[in-house]
Amino acid sequence: MTINSIQTRRFDTLIIGAGGGGLRAALQLAEADASVAVVSKVFPTRSHTVAAQGGMNAALANVLPDNWHWHMFDTVKGSDYLGDQDAIEYMCRAAPKVVYELEHFGVPFSRLDNGRIYQRPFGGQSQNFGGEQAARTCAAADRTGHAILHSLYQQNIRARTHFFDEYFAVDLLKDDEGNVLGAFVFDIHTGEEIIIEAKTTLIATGGAGQLFRTTTNALINTGDGMAMALRAGVPLQDMEFFQFHPTGIAGRGMLITEGARGEGGYLVNAMGERLMERYAPKAKDLASRDVVSRAIYTEVKEGRGCGPNKDHVMLKLDHLGEDVLQKRLPGIRQTCITFLGIDPAEQAIPVYPTAHYTMGGIPTDRYGQVVVPVKDTPEEPVNGLYAAGECACVSVHGANRLGGNSLLDILVFGRSAANHIIGYLKENRYHRPMNEASVEKAWQRLHRWDKTGEGESVERIRADLKKSMEDNCGVFRTQEVLDNGIKEVSAIAERLKEARISDHTGMFNTARVEALELENLMDVALATVYSASARTESRGAHSRIDYPERDDKNWMKHSLYSSEGRKLDYKPVRTKPMSVTSFPPRPRVY
Ligand code: FUM
Repeated sequence: MTINSIQTRRFDTLIIGAGGGGLRAALQLAEADASVAVVSKVFPTRSHTVAAQGGMNAALANVLPDNWHWHMFDTVKGSDYLGDQDAIEYMCRAAPKVVYELEHFGVPFSRLDNGRIYQRPFGGQSQNFGGEQAARTCAAADRTGHAILHSLYQQNIRARTHFFDEYFAVDLLKDDEGNVLGAFVFDIHTGEEIIIEAKTTLIATGGAGQLFRTTTNALINTGDGMAMALRAGVPLQDMEFFQFHPTGIAGRGMLITEGARGEGGYLVNAMGERLMERYAPKAKDLASRDVVSRAIYTEVKEGRGCGPNKDHVMLKLDHLGEDVLQKRLPGIRQTCITFLGIDPAEQAIPVYPTAHYTMGGIPTDRYGQVVVPVKDTPEEPVNGLYAAGECACVSVHGANRLGGNSLLDILVFGRSAANHIIGYLKENRYHRPMNEASVEKAWQRLHRWDKTGEGESVERIRADLKKSMEDNCGVFRTQEVLDNGIKEVSAIAERLKEARISDHTGMFNTARVEALELENLMDVALATVYSASARTESRGAHSRIDYPERDDKNWMKHSLYSSEGRKLDYKPVRTKPMSVTSFPPRPRVY
C-alpha cells in the first residue's frame, strides 16, 4: 500500500455521520460556502435520528408558561448535577431559535388550534424550578426525528453538500504532529478506498445502543466515532452512564415514546396499581427516565410483574381514546398493531426498560471542539477536530438525559460546531501534509479482515458481547457484577483478535463492515465497564446497589477513559453557568 495508490479527495470539512447533528452542521457550513463532505454508512435519511419519536424541548411557552431558565434547572437536576452548567445554559437558551429555524427549513410540526407549534409534557419537566409539570416538547406527532431528518437532508441537497452515501469510515488520519486531517473510508458497495483529506473533521456518528441485546437503537448504532476517537488517543468521557428507556416493547426493545405518558398514558403492575405513585408521588409517570426504569425493574424483581413470566409491566393508553392516539401517537399505535397484534386504543402495551442512549462520549466544549487533558490542564481543544450529538459528551446530559433533550442537543451543538469551524477555516486556509503511517494503520485495520482460515464468527462474538453487557452493566449494578463484566468483555475482546469473516453470502463488504463495527463496539464496551466499575456511588443512570447514595464529596467529576492501558482519569464538573447563578446539588426527588 502507498498513499499515491489510493484516491484522495479534499474538502474544507469532513463530517462523519448523517444524522441530525451531522446534517445540521453540514447545512450551516455549506451555506457559508465551505466545501463539505458527509460520509455515512447508510443512506442519510436512514440515520438513527429518523427513529426519534416524542419531540425536542424548547421553552416556547405555547401550551403552558415556560422559560429557558426553568428548562436549564430541569436539565441540571435531570443530569443528577453531573451536567456542565455553562453548556446546559447555552443549549436551553438556544433551543427556541433552533426550533424556529427548523420550522423555516420546512419541518411539519404538529400544531395547536391557534397555529402555534404543539408542545407536550415530557419527563422531568417543571415550571418555576421544580413546580407544576411543564409542556416543553415540540412534536411532529410521534415522528419528530423523521420529520427533522428529512427536512435537513432536503436543505443540504439544496445547499450542495457533497454526500458519500454508504461509505464506511475506518479510521481518522493525522499529520506528523498528530492533528486529525480527515479519514480513510471505503465504498461499501464496491470496496473502493478513499482518503478524505479535510482541514477540519466533525464526528457525528451517534450512540452505541448495540452494546446491549435489548435496545431501541438501530443496528447501525455501534459507537464507530467514539471508537475512532479512542484509537486516535482521545479519552471517552462519562461512559458509565447509559440510559435505559422505561418503555421498550417487552422482550423486543422497540421504543414506545415517552410522549405516550406525556399524553396521559400510565404504567400499571400485575395488580393493576399505578406503580409510579410509589416511586415518584408528584411527577408519577413523568419522573425522569432513570427513576421510571428503576421502578419498573423493581416491580418485576419483587414479583409484581405482568404476563405468564411476570417479566414486564403494562402501559395503558386505551383511556385516551382513538382520536387522540391517531392524532398524537399514530406511529406507536401502528408499531403495536404490526408487531404485537395489539391496538393500544383497546389494550395495554407490555413494556420493560430497554437500552436507549449513550450519555458519555467524546469530550467537547460547547463549540463542539474535542477537548483533551494536556499536562496540568483539565482540557485543551484538539486543533480541527470536532464532535457533536450522541457520540459527543458536552456534557449537557450528565448522568441522565431528559427525554426531548437529545434532538435539541444534536441541533444546537451541530450548529455551534459548524459556526466554530467557519471561524477556524478563516484562520487555517491550507491543507497540511498527511502522515503516511496513519494511512497505513487505517488500511491495515481494514485489511486485517482479508485473512482467511479458521476462526470464530463475528456474529457469535457480537451476540456474546451484547449478552455480557446486558447481564453485567444494566439498570442496577454492583462491584461484583461490574468486575465480572470487565473480565467477560476483556475475554471476548481477546476472541475477536482471532475471528474471521466468511464470505458465503457473497456480501463481502457487508461482512467487513460488521467486523469493523464489532471492533468499535468492543472498544466502547470496555470503556463502559471500566468506567462503571470505578464509580463507587449512585448517580443518575449509574445505580449501584452497593453504593446507593450520590456522593458529591468524592464524585462530582467526569470520568475519562483511555484505551492505552485501559486507564481512568477525572476532571471537574463545570458548575458555573455562563450568565446566571449555578444550581448547587440538591436531593433529587420527583
Ligand atoms: O421517548 C421518546 O420519544 C424518546 C425521546 C428521546 O429519547 O429524547
